[in-house]
Amino acid sequence: MNKRGEYVFSIFSSVLVLFLIATVDARVPGSQGFDENYVVTWGNVLKLNQGREVQLTMDQTAGSAFESKHKFGSGFFQMSIKLPPKDSAGVVTAFYLTSKGDTHDELDFEFLGDTEGKPIQIQTNFVLWFDPATDFHTYGILWNPYQIVFYVDEIPIRIFKNNEKYGVGYPSKPMTVVASLWNGEGWATDGGKTKINWSFAPFKANFQRFSDSGCQADGQNIDAKVCGSTTYWWNTVRLSAKETTAFENVRAKYMTYDYCSDHPRYPVPPAECRLNQ
Ligand SMILES: *[C@@H]1O[C@H](CO)[C@@H](O)[C@H](O)[C@H]1NC(C)=O
Repeated sequence: MNKRGEYVFSIFSSVLVLFLIATVDARVPGSQGFDENYVVTWGNVLKLNQGREVQLTMDQTAGSAFESKHKFGSGFFQMSIKLPPKDSAGVVTAFYLTSKGDTHDELDFEFLGDTEGKPIQIQTNFVLWFDPATDFHTYGILWNPYQIVFYVDEIPIRIFKNNEKYGVGYPSKPMTVVASLWNGEGWATDGGKTKINWSFAPFKANFQRFSDSGCQADGQNIDAKVCGSTTYWWNTVRLSAKETTAFENVRAKYMTYDYCSDHPRYPVPPAECRLNQ
């Protein structure tokens, strides 16, 4: 029942490191081709179905990755992903936004591979309610000046409000959209004890729907006036009552770890925990 991909959502910035939860939404016009918006940056990426789908592969020599041609200053980024099948312990599939560089901001979905029949939870705070390896599911990251929302199949699973005025870090630099399949056997499964079984290689993860709902910001800084403008639909997104209920249900049932409730580790809860309530 627990033999599922799990994912870790994390926001990294110079001021905070959070290990949180998972996902995106279907409101975006979905079927742009890969080549319009993305470019292969590493390893072996196979284009399928006239560029409407790509397959990342990983073998003993390398993983693979692609990223957006542009950087963005706000947007709603989503991707339909089918993860590598079972027995992918140590294999990490990632979909994230990153500003790159030393003190970069990062918003990610990271799916940690599993061993057959063995539910493994490490660095994990969310278990999905389906097997993400049997079919495509849509994962999304909404990022605007007010909030960051992670969606899985249109259900918000993580909301991070912009509380910069209270000193809580918030992404402030242009970010690139990246997807990758890589060797994470040093930590991903069983605390790094379960290594990749290469007899199951090559590992493959498939991606579809390369949405382009973002405000391009290819310079060093984001023009807040432009990328925060209400003419972009993602800057006016408010969760409906239905979405809020779905969010609460999903968190109650599937979140396996919440650092905001981890009192032994964080006797004083990080500021954003209070502010996000
Ligand atoms: C890898 O998988 C094969 C096939 O299931 C199995 O026979 C072998 O013992 C596995 N190797 C390791 C190191 O677990």
